[in-house]
Parts: sequence; structure tokens; C-alpha cells
Amino acid sequence: MKKIINRLTVIGSGAMGSQIAMVSALAGIDVYLRDISEESLRKAEESLNGHMKKRILKGKLSSQEVEEAFSRLHFVTSLEEALNDTEFVIEAIVENLEVKRQLFSEVDKLVSEDVIIATNSSTIVSSKLADATKRPHKVCNLHFFNPVLVMELVEVVKGLHTSNETAATAVEFVKQINKTPILLKKEISGFVANRILGALIDEAIYLLENDVATVEEIDLACKKALNHPIGPFALLDLTGIDVNYYIRQILYEETGDESKKPQRIIKEKYFNGEYGRKTGKGFYTYS
Ligand code: NAI
Repeated sequence: MKKIINRLTVIGSGAMGSQIAMVSALAGIDVYLRDISEESLRKAEESLNGHMKKRILKGKLSSQEVEEAFSRLHFVTSLEEALNDTEFVIEAIVENLEVKRQLFSEVDKLVSEDVIIATNSSTIVSSKLADATKRPHKVCNLHFFNPVLVMELVEVVKGLHTSNETAATAVEFVKQINKTPILLKKEISGFVANRILGALIDEAIYLLENDVATVEEIDLACKKALNHPIGPFALLDLTGIDVNYYIRQILYEETGDESKKPQRIIKEKYFNGEYGRKTGKGFYTYS
């Protein structure tokens, strides 16, 4: 039986949480967006207002739809208020295991036993959070992509502890908010989309370091033969070469696997301060 969610709590109103709350409110759900920082809530409201105005101007949404969605979206600092009568909880706070575990334990005590508590974390699998609650079978990853208002896919990740019913309800919820779900039957670091992207980027760097083709040509191959909207080097410039450097450094430290270390070209760019668009130079130069 499909469970329709009428009331949702999103915890953390940053880049991800704010937009998860907005798409849910647009889909007709009563949403409580909670943050410990009033400043963050204020910025979230301001930013969502800006995005919605642009969509109205482009004719993608009517002002009535937006007005109604905002009337369903509540910005709160009180955890109790955010969780009152909630039916589904999505955590999107800082990427810190201990802080997330503390929150999961608090939420567990405040919501009824049938409520699912999902994490939007990109790197922390829910098995690391489930035992902070008394409902491990109701805990899973629900991984959205940035920017949530635009990106359609959501990965539902079923840990060993997650019940089939929880996974099925999470999948239905994703459809309810007009996104496209995929269900990962087991936990794996990076999940599906980011693992594939990582492999693509690694191969692009291998080809460049081995002098097979230029940055521009490798990007062209992805665009003109694979129909990707953007090539891997242009994408690295957009997301930040520094971010890629840190991720690989952490992966190497966690696994001890030499092949995970930042590659020569990434290291060179990182130590030259060539991070991509944000510094005006990366694989390409920006004015
Ligand atoms: P962010 O730094 O933009 O926002 C985090 C928010 O959480 C801040 O507003 C902060 O005040 C709030 N916060 C911190 N501790 C809190 C607590 N105990 N209770 C309530 N609020 C608290 O972070 P962002 O980028 O939105 O990421 C959030 C989560 O989403 C992370 O787990 C991250 O791995 C995941 N994610 C991020 C993506 C991205 O591209 N930024 C993509 C997919 C997932």
C-alpha cells in the first residue's frame, strides 16, 4: 500500500535542506524546515524566494503555486516544533558523524515509532547512524543532488538494517515530490551516480597525464560522443579542483590505497592555487 506523506521535517537549512524542503512544499506537503541557526533559516528563505521569483518570471510556476508552497513551508529553530506530528524526517546537517548521531538519537525520542529517519549524507552510510536510534529498520540514506530544485535523481540506499517497507516508502516519497528514485540494494561508498562520475574523471585525468589528448579534446569527446552536457575537466573547474584534491586525500588516508591519492595534475593545480572557476584558472582560464 502506498503511504502518502502529508507532513515532513527537514533538519538543516543549508544548500541541500532548504531546497529539499521547497520541492516538497511545492509537491503539496506541509514542511517544517529546522536549523539551529536563525541566520541560516533567514538565508534559506531569502534564497528560495529568489529561485521562486525566477521560476515565476520564466513561466515555470505560477505565483499562486509559489504562494501556496510558501504557506506550507515553516522555518523553525525548535526541534520539538519541527517534529510535532511529523511523518517523515530528512536530515541534511553538517557532514559530521558525531553531530549526526546525536541528532538521530534526539529525533528518535521525539517522533512516533513508525516514522522514517533518513540522511541526505553523501559519504556517511546510514548503518553508521541507525544504532543511535531504537528503530534501525526505519533508517536509510536518501541522497539528493545539488541543486535539488533542478536535479531529478534521488538515491534511496537500503542498508542491511533497513526494512523493505522503509525502502519502499522512501521510494514512494521520492515519486510524491516529483523526483526520480533509484533504489540501491546495499550500501556502497559514493553510491551510484558519484561513483560513475568519479570513474569518468579518473579516466579523463589518466588520458591527459599520459598525453593521449588535450583537456579540450577529452571534454569534446564526452560532449560530442557521449552526449554529456559538460566535459569532465570543465566540471572539475566548476565543482573545484581543491574539493577533488581533499576528497582523494581523505579517501587515501581512510583506505591506505595509493591509487586513491590525488593525481599529479590535480596536485599541481591545487598547489598552484588553480582551483577552477572560483580562482579564475583551473584546466581552463576564466575572465
Ligand atoms: P550546509 O553547510 O550548506 O548546511 C548545513 C546546515 O546544517 C547549516 O545551515 C547548519 O546551520 C545546519 N546545522 C548544523 N548542525 C545542525 C543541527 N545539529 N541541527 C540543525 N541544523 C544544523 O550543508 P549542505 O551542503 O546542505 O550539506 C548537508 C548534507 O547534505 C551533508 O550531509 C552533505 O553530505 C549532504 N549533501 C551535500 C551535497 C552538496 O552538494 N552540498 C550533495 C548531496 C548531499
